This record gives sequence, C-alpha cells and structure tokens, in this order.
Amino acid sequence: MGNLDGKTIIITGGGKGQGAAEVKLATNLGAKVVVTDVLDDEGNQIAEETGNVYHSLDVTDPEQWSDVVNSTVSDFGRIDGLVNNAGIFGHGGILDSDIEQFKKIIDVNQIGTYLGMAAVAPIMVSQMSGSIVNISSIAGMRGRKAIGYGASKWAVRGMTKCAANELGSYNIRVNSIHPGAIETDMLSGLGDATINRLVSNVPMQRSGTPDEVGTAVMFLLSDEASYISGTEIVVDGGLIA
Ligand SMILES: NC(=O)c1ccc[n+]([C@@H]2O[C@H](COP(=O)([O-])OP(=O)(O)OC[C@H]3O[C@@H](n4cnc5c(N)ncnc54)[C@H](O)[C@@H]3O)[C@@H](O)[C@H]2O)c1
Repeated sequence: MGNLDGKTIIITGGGKGQGAAEVKLATNLGAKVVVTDVLDDEGNQIAEETGNVYHSLDVTDPEQWSDVVNSTVSDFGRIDGLVNNAGIFGHGGILDSDIEQFKKIIDVNQIGTYLGMAAVAPIMVSQMSGSIVNISSIAGMRGRKAIGYGASKWAVRGMTKCAANELGSYNIRVNSIHPGAIETDMLSGLGDATINRLVSNVPMQRSGTPDEVGTAVMFLLSDEASYISGTEIVVDGGLIA
C-alpha cells in the first residue's frame, strides 16, 4: 500500500466517507494529515481520533485554500500530498436538471479540484516533489444520465492529465482514481432499488468499501508509485470492464 512516513498530506472532504477512511489509512502509514471539510464537527472528530489537525475548507473558495496551504506550510514546513476527494452528486439529466444544479456540481467537483491543485502546486514546485490524487469516478469514464456529475468527473480526469503534463518536470505526479459503487452516504443516497440494480451489474457482485478506494490512493501518494503520473486507477469490482 505504500509507506507515507514523514509526509504531510492534505485531504479534502475528510470528515466522512472515503475521505475519513483515507485520513485513517494515511495516518497509519506514518503521514501527518491535514483534515479538511465543510462538516466541522465530523472533520474535527476524525482529526482528534487520528491525532491530526483540522481546517475548515470549502473547496470552492480560493481564499480558504490559501489559508489551508499557508497554515500547513507554517505547521509542517512542506506539502507532500493532496487528495482532492470532496465531491457532491446530482441525478439530473438534460431533461430534468437546471443550470443552478449543474453549476453547483461543477463548482465543487471541478473547480474545487482545480483550486486545490493550483493552491499546492507552487509549494510542491519549490520542493521539487509532490503527489496529487484527484478523485473522479467511473462517471468520468462513461456516459450516464447525471450530466452535471458526469461533466465534472470527466473534467477531473482531463485536468489530471493536463496537470501531470505541466508539473512532471518538477517531479510532481498527478493521477486520478475512479471509484464505482462505494459504501458511503453518497451511494446510500441513491436508494435501495438503484443500488441493487447497480451492484447486480458489478462482476464481483458487491459494492466496495471506502478502504478499498483508500488503499489505491495511498499507493499513489507513496514513493512506491514514483514513476506513475497522468494515469487513472479504476476501483469498481470490474463494473466498467
Ligand atoms: N460513493 C461512491 O459510490 C462514489 C463513486 C464514485 C466517486 N465518488 C467520489 O468520491 C468522493 C468522496 O465521496 P464519498 O463517497 O465519500 O461521499 P460522502 O458524501 O460521504 O463524502 C463527500 C465529502 O465531501 C465533502 N464536501 C462536499 N462539498 C464540499 C465542499 N464544497 N467543500 C469541502 N468539502 C465538501 C462532504 O462534506 C463530505 O465529507 C467524491 O468526490 C465522490 O464524487 C464516490
């Protein structure tokens, strides 16, 4: 899974779901984690449980990104990893979504990921090292009705490759992870009928756990992935195969 000894890692949406699992895994692998979220109670609790610090961060706000990066550098002297995990889902398609819903999803999932990369990149450039892991989705690899979500997750996948190209010469790696049906509030929000239909199409005939995504994220953060950049790992039990 990789050794993260001595590394400082910022994780967005770290208060629950996959983000919280990643905070725990990274801590167990030796990292100091800066836990961030808009859910201050949940974020503080995970930070306390794991002996890490918590910062309130709405990923759509560039000033809040600046504050988190400045305080991370001031507390730990460096930023080795960023996991752009925060995200929201929306069902709407062409016929039943509106521009406000579409913009909101793009704002959090796409612009939030862009702002995160832009905020940490100068620090990583000055260190000549870093690993950024962007959480996309299988919705960023195929088309389904949820058009805002799909657009945002395709964008995350595309921006990952743009950033990998731009930042590679500074020894900064940028990769994306594409989870399938993972057992968090986001999945349970789809309702039992949809989940059962989704899972029945998974070759492995089950949903995945946050830890199963987290282990792939840890690998990409670690030096074991030292020559892996601009690529994607699908964690979906074979669903899109
Ligand atoms: N659960 C799945 O089946 C699944 C599948 C594919 C991709 N994903 C992606 O995985 C990531 C994690 O989702 P999850 O499954 O843990 O869901 P979740 O709903 O449990 O967690 C999402 C987290 O993002 C945070 N968040 C939302 N808006 C934010 C904002 N503006 N600023 C900062 N934080 C914000 C939430 O507070 C929460 O902590 C998301 O990017 C999601 O799109 C999830």
